[in-house]
Amino acid sequence: MENKMSRRNFIGKSAVVGAAALLSNVPIISNAAKKAQAKTVVSGKTKVAIVGTGSRGTNMWGKTVINGYADMVEYVGLCDKNPGRLEAAKKYMGASCKTYIDFDTMLKECKPDILIVTTMDSTHDEFIIKGLNAGCNILTEKPMTTDEVKCQTILDAQKRSGKEVIVTFNYRYSPHRAKIWDLINSGEIGDVTSVDFHWYLDTSHGADYFRRWHRKREFGGSLWVHKASHHFDLLGWWLNSEPEEVFAYGNLEFYGKNGKQRGTNCRNCSHKDNCDFYWDVNKNDYYKMLYTDNERHDGYLRDGCVFKEDIDIFDKMCASIKYANGVQVAYSLTAYSPYEGYRIAFNGTKGRIDAWIQESNPTHDGEYDEIMVTRNFGKRNYIRVPQSEGHGGGDKLMHDKIWRNVTEDPFKQSANIRDGAFAILTGVAARRSCDSGKPVKIADLTDLVPKAKK
Ligand SMILES: NC(=O)c1ccc[n+]([C@@H]2O[C@H](COP(=O)([O-])OP(=O)(O)OC[C@H]3O[C@@H](n4cnc5c(N)ncnc54)[C@H](O)[C@@H]3O)[C@@H](O)[C@H]2O)c1
Repeated sequence: MENKMSRRNFIGKSAVVGAAALLSNVPIISNAAKKAQAKTVVSGKTKVAIVGTGSRGTNMWGKTVINGYADMVEYVGLCDKNPGRLEAAKKYMGASCKTYIDFDTMLKECKPDILIVTTMDSTHDEFIIKGLNAGCNILTEKPMTTDEVKCQTILDAQKRSGKEVIVTFNYRYSPHRAKIWDLINSGEIGDVTSVDFHWYLDTSHGADYFRRWHRKREFGGSLWVHKASHHFDLLGWWLNSEPEEVFAYGNLEFYGKNGKQRGTNCRNCSHKDNCDFYWDVNKNDYYKMLYTDNERHDGYLRDGCVFKEDIDIFDKMCASIKYANGVQVAYSLTAYSPYEGYRIAFNGTKGRIDAWIQESNPTHDGEYDEIMVTRNFGKRNYIRVPQSEGHGGGDKLMHDKIWRNVTEDPFKQSANIRDGAFAILTGVAARRSCDSGKPVKIADLTDLVPKAKK
């Protein structure tokens, strides 16, 4: 009910009809809400501004939206603290709006209906809160924020504003994962009682987290928050429950101080001829245009050494998580695997669902992903879900839901502020448990009390 109310507010107070597309759980727009919209419609398009014009901002939330949804969306402002990257981003996206170094000025001048937040994780709270206070609805990239104190201030600001915060958990939208949701929720294996969930980042994509700002806890909250919050969101969504308690271990034993040799960054490194992790960032025109051409403005090195001594995040992690509905989860994340992907199994009272994805070095021809359903005392069935571009076709589905008037949400894929909060709080609890050696109750972190949804 609380959720539905906040979604209605979003429609009622939003300046343009296009914003209604964000309200995917609300099938009917009330007459009062329609009148409120009619009064404030300016251009007929949703006015959108972005803060953070790095790779996520310029592609997923920039070029893709301008190319595919220009009839619904008008970009009114772009902001980034790096002036060179900002101008390069504007050109790359094909945007014609104004650019700003100063966020407050952008908000004041552009008055966006929706603010998209795609900055470094630890800064999301500042922009979400300022945006809410200025009357914007917010689309924020995951993780919503990086610690429990910032999380509480976002929750409070959202409540005060009556505006909506959507966390763009695109992983929910892959057809393979939606099929798993469907199988669980149609009772195929009875009640789910426990889950085995193991995620592998490879020595290319996984290593990349150790090159960039993500390598420091203070910027990305560690991979428990930056990366695993995606996985914790999936668990809460599949299981229809919020997490109650977490116990975890973590260690850094491959990257960082563990390397035998190191430099500052790959381009200037004396070990480039004998390092498995040597990477020439300038071979990628897009990265060169966005990052290395603009290093002089902020000193940010996109190709930092994965063996830098200042790396303070874990590269192997495991956790036991108990959910409010009694489900127990055994989770792990490894950041130096020879292949990228995951394995998951749901144990239920009537059977078991197994699923796996291997994104690099795939074991089959890449046309489909499989799910194996085994009934107790019964047969084993294999379900094949066709693959497509962009997280299995999920990215386009999420964009259509957000920007077009797609109101159905049969798999409950829209993620609201509460979902965003529980996803990061699971990671925060795991991080705290690694530090303290003790289990952490999620209810001790903010004023949110975990609930089973069904
Ligand atoms: N959903 C997904 O699958 C997914 C994938 C990649 C990234 N992301 C998220 O998107 C966000 C951006 O990631 P990215 O890969 O684009 O990073 P990035 O480093 O390429 O871009 C971040 C941008 O924010 C700017 N910035 C940082 N602090 C700022 C501040 N205080 N004021 C103004 N600008 C500031 C930087 O200059 C940079 O241009 C992160 O939160 C990340 O977790 C999500």
